Amino acid sequence: MATIVGSVMSSHVPAIGGAIAKGIQDNDYWRPFFSGFPPVREWLGKVKPDVAVMFYMDHGLNFFLDKMPTFAVGAAAEYRNADEGWGLPTQRSLEGDAPLSWHIIESLIADEFDVTTCQEMLVDHACIIPLQLLYPGGGDWPLRIVPITINHVQHPLPSPKRCYALGQAVGRALASWQDDARVVVIGTGGLSHQLDGTRAGFINKPFDLMCMDALVSDPSRLAKLSALDLVREAGAQGTELMAWIAARGALPGRVSKVHSAYHVPISNTAGAVMALANDGTALAQAA
Ligand code: DHB
Ligand code: FE
Repeated sequence: MATIVGSVMSSHVPAIGGAIAKGIQDNDYWRPFFSGFPPVREWLGKVKPDVAVMFYMDHGLNFFLDKMPTFAVGAAAEYRNADEGWGLPTQRSLEGDAPLSWHIIESLIADEFDVTTCQEMLVDHACIIPLQLLYPGGGDWPLRIVPITINHVQHPLPSPKRCYALGQAVGRALASWQDDARVVVIGTGGLSHQLDGTRAGFINKPFDLMCMDALVSDPSRLAKLSALDLVREAGAQGTELMAWIAARGALPGRVSKVHSAYHVPISNTAGAVMALANDGTALAQAA
């Protein structure tokens, strides 16, 4: 059985990767955002996950509007990073955990989530930037990944309820895994933002903070929202909250907040990070 140590939810704005490349994390603009991460890294150093199951959104690198899986699961031994147009330096490839991927896929399909399986998958900024934030320094990545993408672009989008249920199904899959992996479930994206149209630049701080609170103590509240509620309240790209909701669904029991930080703006977006410990297993087993 895998041990789920907890969850990390993080923004993935491409400009973060630009700031890392330029080494300007500590200037006045970026410090308030980057300063949210050391406590999360410290916690990861204690709970030592060796696998990250990552919920995020592909931004046109693997899937475009003509072919858009609602949910796609990677089942590769390696995931190469590529830039879908932001001009970011390409990062080291990530090691996959193909046996765990296939176990999750089999369990999800048995659970009636008819996901797309990807034995080849490139990973974009939404996967790599949160990992750069959590494991900075340019050394080898210390963990394997299982990537799971959620369609947040081409309507109709999955509902937050469905994303939450997907996360719960992934949690059940992890509970029946034969090996002893220590898993952190990562959700990336958001928070509120809209990049185009008449509401470009839209940010809704009260809604973001409500979501961050609900993710700790009452995630089912978010599962009652529709995808269009998310568009209305968080902006067209605020639908990326679905990755945070899915990640929360994978935590089976009581959770406690390790750390959270929220800062507006980074680029066009409300930047945030949150780490949740899966109580009763994570720290006890790390000790
Ligand atoms: C921005 C935010 C995103 O989530 C993204 O995928 C691309 C750009 C931004 O705010 O610049
Ligand atoms: Fe995005």
